[in-house]
Amino acid sequence: MDPNEFGTSTVPLQHAPYGPITEENLKGANKGKVAVVTGAAQGIGAGIAESLAKSGANVAILDLSVEKQAKTKEACEAQGVKVGVYACDVTDQEKVVATIDKIEQELGPIDILVNNAGILDQRPLIMSTFDSFWKQIEVNFKGPLLTIHTMLPRFRDRGAGCIINIASRSATVDVPMTLGYVTSKAALTRATHTLQREMALDGLDPAICLYALHPGGVLTGMGGTGAGQDVLDKYGDVRDEKFFMDLFKDPPALCGQTCAWLASGQGKELRGLFIDCRQDVTRLLEKGRDALLKEKRNVLTVNFLDGYANEP
Ligand SMILES: NC(=O)c1ccc[n+]([C@@H]2O[C@H](COP(=O)([O-])OP(=O)(O)OC[C@H]3O[C@@H](n4cnc5c(N)ncnc54)[C@H](O)[C@@H]3O)[C@@H](O)[C@H]2O)c1
Repeated sequence: MDPNEFGTSTVPLQHAPYGPITEENLKGANKGKVAVVTGAAQGIGAGIAESLAKSGANVAILDLSVEKQAKTKEACEAQGVKVGVYACDVTDQEKVVATIDKIEQELGPIDILVNNAGILDQRPLIMSTFDSFWKQIEVNFKGPLLTIHTMLPRFRDRGAGCIINIASRSATVDVPMTLGYVTSKAALTRATHTLQREMALDGLDPAICLYALHPGGVLTGMGGTGAGQDVLDKYGDVRDEKFFMDLFKDPPALCGQTCAWLASGQGKELRGLFIDCRQDVTRLLEKGRDALLKEKRNVLTVNFLDGYANEP
């Protein structure tokens, strides 16, 4: 891996909750709200659920099984909020709708939806079964769109809602051997931009806000997995696993606290955008929404040669 391929930030990146997104600053910021976090059994999802609980939200945590979520449940309950635990495969439409209905019966109307559940199968397409390639699109893209499709009419009827999609920096770059992952995350990010525009069509912008996040590099079940031995045997260490491992140094709380901050409404000016949790949100707010949109910052875009516009 050539470290110069992507450049190096000249502004320091954040690797822990900072300024506006610290626990102290967000204490009570989401008091009484109801938040749903998918894939909350472990890793980043567990961190998001805990941060939302620390900011006062009652949380519904979802994952493939209830048992897997015992630790997250305990950590959230320690914050003195209501916690519901649900077994739900986010790719199963019937189950998603039934689970959301159950959450609203048990905890009340949902205010915040965090689509965090995700999977990664690190192998080139030519060495994948089609099913294992497609499964990533199902979990990482269909899953979030199913929860959003279920929640949107309810948010519309209540005139408010916050949707946070945990995408990835992978949405913005080419990473060989992760085709299902990069394409599903790019689709999720594009959906975030476009759906925010659809909210405007219905007079629901900024009442309903969507965001796409890169959580940073977090050593989790997924973050810590490399390519399989069969792939390494065939291609060698193409991705430079050590280089990547050194980058996985961010705590789940960096993303968790960013979610709590966005859920509190303080980041509404950034709605519809892709936000890298390592970059200070204060700088984005200082830049201002109009300039961010005009300069096409924090959106997926194509840079054509000077003189060629991306005209219809
Ligand atoms: N770890 C990183 O550095 C990193 C970087 C960029 C983006 N992300 C994204 O962050 C999110 C969380 O990743 P993580 O690193 O904590 O991974 P993880 O593997 O530790 O956790 C993912 C969770 O999602 C759950 N899950 C998987 N399929 C599911 C399904 N069909 N229905 C419900 N739950 C399901 C798993 O059981 C697991 O608990 C993912 O969307 C991932 O793509 C992670």
